Amino acid sequence: MPQTRNVAVIVGSLRKESYNRKMAKALIGVAPEGLKLEIVEIGQLPHYNQDDDANPPAASAAFKQKIAGFDAVLFVTPEYNRSVPGVLKNAIDVASRPYGKSAWSGKPAAVMTVSPGAIGGFGANHHLRQSLVFLDMPALAQPEAYVGGAADMFDESGAFKKPEAKQFAEKFLAAFAQWIERTARPAG
Ligand SMILES: Cc1cc2nc3c(=O)[nH]c(=O)nc-3n(C[C@H](O)[C@H](O)[C@H](O)COP(=O)(O)O)c2cc1C
Repeated sequence: MPQTRNVAVIVGSLRKESYNRKMAKALIGVAPEGLKLEIVEIGQLPHYNQDDDANPPAASAAFKQKIAGFDAVLFVTPEYNRSVPGVLKNAIDVASRPYGKSAWSGKPAAVMTVSPGAIGGFGANHHLRQSLVFLDMPALAQPEAYVGGAADMFDESGAFKKPEAKQFAEKFLAAFAQWIERTARPAG
């Protein structure tokens, strides 16, 4: 039996009724045994400022320390203006510094972009992957997850309306679980 893997889920939207947050919660609901998903909040983080590297704000230090404790990271994000929302990029920057002391380094990652539009956040998905390369986070390639039509995806309880959507979520997480086993580096 593989060990339980703890996965930080970073949601790139602060909106109360966010489809991406709904997706993150739905993913938590269908996660396979052995994958423990937890949303880690990013809305409280101050803007990253390199002047603070030696003495970061408490919220930034706490976030970085929390991320360091996870085995892997799942990003679930909208696309803003064909790219990554600023609030998500800020969270990535906050936990990446000082240089050489990134909390993200080596952690297996997966990216799902969710949009009410038809393109499913393709631009944000790939802009985010560009950062993951530099951060040395091996990112799951398949299945790609550009989820469009989000406005009609969840019922009032937050469950997937269509069985195909649920099946895709399960398939995506199963692939991620395998990816983590293949790419996770030994602790220490
Ligand atoms: C500033 C801004 C820029 C946006 N740009 C895009 C975009 O480039 N592509 C897209 O598919 N949707 C875009 N949208 C629409 C979002 O996909 C939509 O608001 C979505 O609901 C945001 O995700 P959320 O529901 O998780 O908050 C944009 C929305 C905002 C507020």
